[in-house]
Amino acid sequence: MHKHPHIPSVFLLAVVAASVAAGSQMTAQQPGPRLAALNHRVVVQDSGVYSDAQAEEGTAVYKKTCAECHELEEFTNGDFKGKWGGRPLFDLFEQIRTTMPDGDPGTLPREEYGAVVSYILKLNGLPSGPARLSTDSAALAAITLKLPAAAP
Ligand code: HEC
Repeated sequence: MHKHPHIPSVFLLAVVAASVAAGSQMTAQQPGPRLAALNHRVVVQDSGVYSDAQAEEGTAVYKKTCAECHELEEFTNGDFKGKWGGRPLFDLFEQIRTTMPDGDPGTLPREEYGAVVSYILKLNGLPSGPARLSTDSAALAAITLKLPAAAP
């Protein structure tokens, strides 16, 4: 490669330009180490990923199935944001689907898991949109969960 020094230089320049482009794009979205780590994925969808009706259904699921063990505050506090923020929404969905309700995991219809996740998004102040949150694994994996920073 050192026999053709100008070729790698051009290549390097292209890489630098691409990094700068990616960097400024991320700054426009939301700066932060977690997003930086997800740089290669750069599918950042942060609003309107669930519908109001779906969050309403999720409220009912929560009351029926989750409230006996959980306080709502557990899904919006600093620990929660720190653990799930910046990660694919699929991670949260799958964690809930495969472990909850505790002692009886996976027993809800997939749509109910999607509804309760929508409710959690709403609790965190994320805006709803016209379409329902898909419960398809790949679709969920393409959404990065952007939670506003926790209060200090
Ligand atoms: C029978 C009690 C029980 C029920 C019902 C239950 N959970 Fe849990 N849940 C737990 C326990 C116990 C943990 C583990 C707590 C821990 O170790 O952090 C947990 C953990 C979680 C976590 C992980 C929290 C985190 O950040 O690590 C989520 C999310 C969660 N539950 C959501 C739900 C949802 C949504 C429902 C209703 C569909 C539900 N749970 C129903 C007992 C329950």
